Amino acid sequence: MPPDSHDAPAPISSRKAEHIALCETDDVAFRAQTNLLDEVQLVHDALPELALEDIDLSVTFCGKTLKAPLIIAAMTGGTAQAESINRTLADVAQRHGLGFGFGSQRPLLSGVTEGYAVRDVAPDALILGNLGLVQARETSTAAIERLITTCGADALCLHLNPAMEVIQPGGDVDFRDGLKTITRLVQELSVPVVVKETGCGLSRDLGRRLVDVGVRWVDTSGAGGTSWVGVETLRAKADQRALGERFWDWGIPTAASVVQLADLGLGICATGGVADGLAAAHAVALGATAAGVARPFLQALSQGGPEGLERRVRLVLDELRFAHFLSGARTPAALQAKPILVGPRLARWIPKGSPLRDRAML
Ligand SMILES: Cc1cc2nc3c(=O)[nH]c(=O)nc-3n(C[C@H](O)[C@H](O)[C@H](O)COP(=O)(O)O)c2cc1C
Repeated sequence: MPPDSHDAPAPISSRKAEHIALCETDDVAFRAQTNLLDEVQLVHDALPELALEDIDLSVTFCGKTLKAPLIIAAMTGGTAQAESINRTLADVAQRHGLGFGFGSQRPLLSGVTEGYAVRDVAPDALILGNLGLVQARETSTAAIERLITTCGADALCLHLNPAMEVIQPGGDVDFRDGLKTITRLVQELSVPVVVKETGCGLSRDLGRRLVDVGVRWVDTSGAGGTSWVGVETLRAKADQRALGERFWDWGIPTAASVVQLADLGLGICATGGVADGLAAAHAVALGATAAGVARPFLQALSQGGPEGLERRVRLVLDELRFAHFLSGARTPAALQAKPILVGPRLARWIPKGSPLRDRAML
């Protein structure tokens, strides 16, 4: 793309507000591509030899125990609206023993603090900080460490979003020295680093490069849920809009990303179009440590207030529990040892030699 096709960027706070407004609608969903979690079927066990209350969904992510494999994925920060959204999300995470992710903490670097004080409502929850890789490259480790400690985060998500940036007016399209930046932060930060996409997925090749520099945690944020190319397309003008339309469905589906990464020794959060607990269980069965949910929880909150969000979270947790029970799996680890059925579109993404090939009835 020629450099002059990028308009001047909107101020960060108005951009964030536009993102929230667009994501409250379904206009920003992927169109033709699903996250392929619909290609997974768990095998019913008519005699599970378990009581429902035996099900123990707890898992460990970034060194902290979650009561269920569910993380409220990064969404917002840096505006007054973000303050109430994040405090409500973090409160739900605390009460149900889930993880919660801040949206980008970039505004904090310029002194904007709204939306980042949640530790008082979530004293024990896993809290994930968040910064774009490009901003991280330009920021000293000491300054990033301050962002984390100020907010009491347990880990830092470094987000990768090249597809979104090429469509965003004034987007940052220089991703050089990315792996060098990740290496620096893995080595120098006091907390774990989670390398996270934002809706286009992580490939096996990238997974290998990350493992080689010591990364232990990733968030797929794969294709099939919120299209960030879509979000920026709706904000863009003329030529960029046409480009955005072309790339709207770009990316590796969430389930494909999980199976690509599953045997590399990484802890995986499977985000991207996970809207219910059965889809979350499918992601876990494929090898994810936890599932991440962003826009569906934002919509539950905007449509039903804190009570609506609470109902939605309880429903997802019940669905996760029932999926384990009906598969005869007491824990997520047990679910990962059960046979599963995988459809042809997802099967193509399972690498040769992956243990999943033996488990999946292809
Ligand atoms: C309103 C909104 C804002 C987001 N902001 C961020 C962000 O600041 N940093 C980030 O890593 N991801 C951000 N995301 C991306 C999500 O964390 C997630 O990767 C993506 O939306 C796919 O998940 P979903 O299909 O459940 O929405 C945002 C998502 C939403 C809906």
